[in-house]
Amino acid sequence: MKSFIAGLPKAELHLHIEGTLEPELMFQLAERNGITLPYKDISALRAAYQFSRLQDFLDIYYQGMDVLRTQQDFFDLTWAYLQKIKQQSVRHIEIFFDPQGHVARGIAFTTALNGIHPALLQGKREFDISFGLIMCFLRHLDENDAMATLEMALAHKDKIIGVGLDSSEKGNPPAKFQRVFARARQEGFRLVAHAGEEGPPEYVYEALDLLKVDRIDHGNASMQDPALIKRLVAEQIPLTVCPLSNTRLCVVDTMQQHPLPQMLQAGMKVTINSDDPAYFGGYINENYAAVSDILGNDKKLLAQLARNSFSAAFLEEAQRASLITEVDIYLQQHNNCSR
Ligand code: ADE
Ligand code: ZN
Repeated sequence: MKSFIAGLPKAELHLHIEGTLEPELMFQLAERNGITLPYKDISALRAAYQFSRLQDFLDIYYQGMDVLRTQQDFFDLTWAYLQKIKQQSVRHIEIFFDPQGHVARGIAFTTALNGIHPALLQGKREFDISFGLIMCFLRHLDENDAMATLEMALAHKDKIIGVGLDSSEKGNPPAKFQRVFARARQEGFRLVAHAGEEGPPEYVYEALDLLKVDRIDHGNASMQDPALIKRLVAEQIPLTVCPLSNTRLCVVDTMQQHPLPQMLQAGMKVTINSDDPAYFGGYINENYAAVSDILGNDKKLLAQLARNSFSAAFLEEAQRASLITEVDIYLQQHNNCSR
């Protein structure tokens, strides 16, 4: 099954580029920038990656991103991610970055953008991985801060396809960001939001009805509400599910209890993604592998997840159709052997 997953063409739609910062690179960048990390070595840092809720992770994630200071740092971070996924049959990515996490530390919006974007262009040229860049608003900050960030992005619409909403979910409902999402929509950005990761089903409704998002990031809590499941199926709203993240952040207790099989069974448009792979123990193929068991190692279901990833992506129709055909051909070629 590992080799089937390894060759399966797929898109990644829920990935925080700052969450790909591996401990090795974190130490290298700290040294390059004259920063002393509060961990004596890589294994001490890794040992700190024990989370019992989203906030435990976010505290370490924001601390970790402090080593990102220059355009070159952001380039190196993004390039390291592309090096990983070029070996994972990833054909298309739509990745997040958190400009407010940088601007608040005195790092210019353009320092982050002008490091990340050229690396993505080089990944397209060298590895044929197409991409979209999505800017997330930090929901623990207020809407004015998000609006100021959106205004900074307006000069860079050629490089940013959409806006999202992330960070501490509980107590920060989508409703808080209604105006800034309306403005982003007017400006032609695609819209996504984290909802129902730790928050209740009501946050998923708010993301749909108030923010008018195209996709829901995570969306696990939807499974508590049969009417919401029905709606997500009827409207074929994509969910970007992140299995290893869900176990590491205790959104689910064990992978066996992950709702993915029920989501597929209900007809929801679910996709598999890695969220913050440097912190959660695996990139996209490790996430597919993690759910393969609970799907009975069914190649058709794994291929369905890959197909969904292209059908949920912000792609031109011709490219979408050709990528979905690639999945169909791959499945036909590999459906009979047991690896
Ligand atoms: N920022 C980075 N990863 C996140 C996650 N899983 N949930 C909310 N905000 C995030
Ligand atoms: Zn996320």
